[in-house]
Amino acid sequence: MAENTGKTAIVTGASRGIGLAIAKKLAKSGYNIAVVDACDLEKSEDAVKEVKALGVDAKAYQCNVADFAAVEQTVKQINEDFGGIYILVNNAGITRDGLLIKMTEENFDAVINVNLKGTFNFIKHVSPIMMKKREGRVVSISSIVGIEGQAGQVNYSASKAGVIGITKSCAREFASRNITFNAIAPGYVETPMTAVLTDKQKEAIFEMIPLKRYGQPEDIANAVNFLCSEDASYITGQILSVDGGMHM
Ligand code: NAI
Repeated sequence: MAENTGKTAIVTGASRGIGLAIAKKLAKSGYNIAVVDACDLEKSEDAVKEVKALGVDAKAYQCNVADFAAVEQTVKQINEDFGGIYILVNNAGITRDGLLIKMTEENFDAVINVNLKGTFNFIKHVSPIMMKKREGRVVSISSIVGIEGQAGQVNYSASKAGVIGITKSCAREFASRNITFNAIAPGYVETPMTAVLTDKQKEAIFEMIPLKRYGQPEDIANAVNFLCSEDASYITGQILSVDGGMHM
């Protein structure tokens, strides 16, 4: 376990799945963790316990990433509680799958608001804090379908393609302030989000994975940890596929 860096990482959607794995990995690298999630605070408190057991400070914040004003308040609170923010991981995300012909306006808006606007909201409120310090790392979780598209996921793939656009534009805007912006494009990862797929769907996906195993949350967390590390200080505006070779 690394020494405590005294620096803080915000991880959104950190109470379970990929977000929790990212929070734990960054904790092992010595970062204090702000666990942000829209779920019951009780669930996030369990995540905080797991993170704290790794020897860093951590605190849970209930916040809907899609709510601009709530994000502003949460970021302010985190900055006060921890005395700074060095890393932001935009991980919170949802799906509302369906063919376009059947997709409701509500389901389109819901996914865009959480996945895309939520990413904007956090960057908008965290970036002034990073700018003052002239350092920062932002990693956003996109998806293979943001690159390739996917039938039945017009809303989700648009939101994840949007995350790539935000990442590249911000990488250019903030490079002179020593803040890097990168995104990760996972393939299929075994989490509660993908547990709803049928066995038939899972088997079809498996066939498309050259490395012949499903992704685990830790596979994504390892890549996030690298992009936040000193070793990645010359990398910005990149989209790293972590998908067992699905997208080449
Ligand atoms: P998950 O559903 O297991 O966890 C998502 C977390 O985000 C939950 O804790 C949930 O409460 C939180 N969340 C949802 N809406 C929120 C909101 N409005 N505000 C704050 N928190 C909210 O999902 P999983 O699989 O861990 O996914 C994490 C990220 O990775 C998502 O952005 C997802 O789109 C992306 N991803 C996942 C893949 C997979 O195969 N599981 C593949 C590609 C990308």
